[in-house]
Amino acid sequence: MVEVSEYFPGLKLTLDVRFRLATKEDLPLLEWYGQYTHFRRVFAKTFREQQLGSRVMLVADLNGFPVGQIFILLHMNQARGNMYPRAARRGYLYSLRVMDHLQGMGIGTRLIQEAEKILKHRGLQWAIISVAKNNSRARQLYERLGYRVYTESPGVWQYINHLGKIIKMHEPSWMLEKRLKNA
Ligand SMILES: CC(C)(COP(=O)(O)OP(=O)(O)OC[C@H]1O[C@@H](n2cnc3c(N)ncnc32)[C@H](O)[C@@H]1OP(=O)(O)O)[C@@H](O)C(=O)NCCC(=O)NCCS
Repeated sequence: MVEVSEYFPGLKLTLDVRFRLATKEDLPLLEWYGQYTHFRRVFAKTFREQQLGSRVMLVADLNGFPVGQIFILLHMNQARGNMYPRAARRGYLYSLRVMDHLQGMGIGTRLIQEAEKILKHRGLQWAIISVAKNNSRARQLYERLGYRVYTESPGVWQYINHLGKIIKMHEPSWMLEKRLKNA
């Protein structure tokens, strides 16, 4: 058994987290040491689209490492049918995640707020976000930030993993929207 007297004094750390666009150097780091290797091609494609101007990859940078991320699909249009019925120009926020050990410290909130600023800066009036129906904590976070459910989605999508295999996903989801002020 360890006696209390055997503990040494603690060390308080302050984290300096910056928010910036992803660079090419971030792409392997976004795999988070194997946790998201299966998204290698998704990251590469999203980065190409960021360079072309149709998407944005925003990261939370801690000492040069992207510990959090949110991606933005700009200029979402009617292409996906009646899931997005409003005519106003809108941006879609997705792939929000923060490394496990840094969750609950406000990084996710800031990522969403910075993403909203980017949408407003580009003249978009609405932000859209989807959340799996079984992720009630994330839904609570979005509702706290002013998002409201406006419809549901079967959440059927697919991606090509790092081995070139098509992975089909089925995540029934809520779709939430938020009107961006001063857009
Ligand atoms: C959701 C997530 C991005 C939030 O980032 P964060 O930095 O932890 O968020 P903040 O510190 O700004 O806000 C905390 C709130 O986030 C939500 N949250 C925290 N941990 C979470 C987790 N593991 N999963 C889902 N939501 C979580 C809760 O609403 C929490 O508020 P609470 O502590 O009152 O319950 C982050 O927790 C995460 O990466 N979760 C796993 C992936 C995920 O669920 N992504 C969302 C997909 S829609």
